[in-house]
Amino acid sequence: MTERTLVLLKPDAIERGLAGEIIRRIEDRGFAIVAMDLRALTREFATKHYEEHVGRDYFEPLIEFMTSGPIVAMVIEGPEVIRAWRAMQGATNPFEAAPGTIRADFATSNRLNLTHGSDTAESAAREIALFFPNLK
Ligand code: PPS
Repeated sequence: MTERTLVLLKPDAIERGLAGEIIRRIEDRGFAIVAMDLRALTREFATKHYEEHVGRDYFEPLIEFMTSGPIVAMVIEGPEVIRAWRAMQGATNPFEAAPGTIRADFATSNRLNLTHGSDTAESAAREIALFFPNLK
């Protein structure tokens, strides 16, 4: 089934010049980029995006990190893209990520893990509407 998901290239991806590599993987896989934007997140916006993690021990470091530099937000589209993109990213902890995934190939910690992907259809719809309210 064709679906959409929100992808974020986190500040470490931009700072390390990995945006091109990650976008190339998305395009090589055949997914369409239907929206894309470089932006800086405010604390308030990042808190809204990660609202289900409020109160977790990693919440503060996560918000601190996500507001530390520019990110790229994207909406990508394709068959089973929510699950497929999560698989392409690899596990949250790069040391548990499968070989060949973005995190196994380039990431160094569960904070500096380069990318975000919505985990369910419901979060994809919510996150896309938050980042791209005018996207049809
Ligand atoms: S998952 O895959 O969404 O279930 O991942 P989860 O382990 O629940 O982590 C949720 C997000 O929190 C980030 N995270 C951290 N950020 C900063 N510091 C620490 N220690 C940390 N641990 C986890 C993790 O990268 C997930 O971010 P997203 O953007 O959802 O991938």
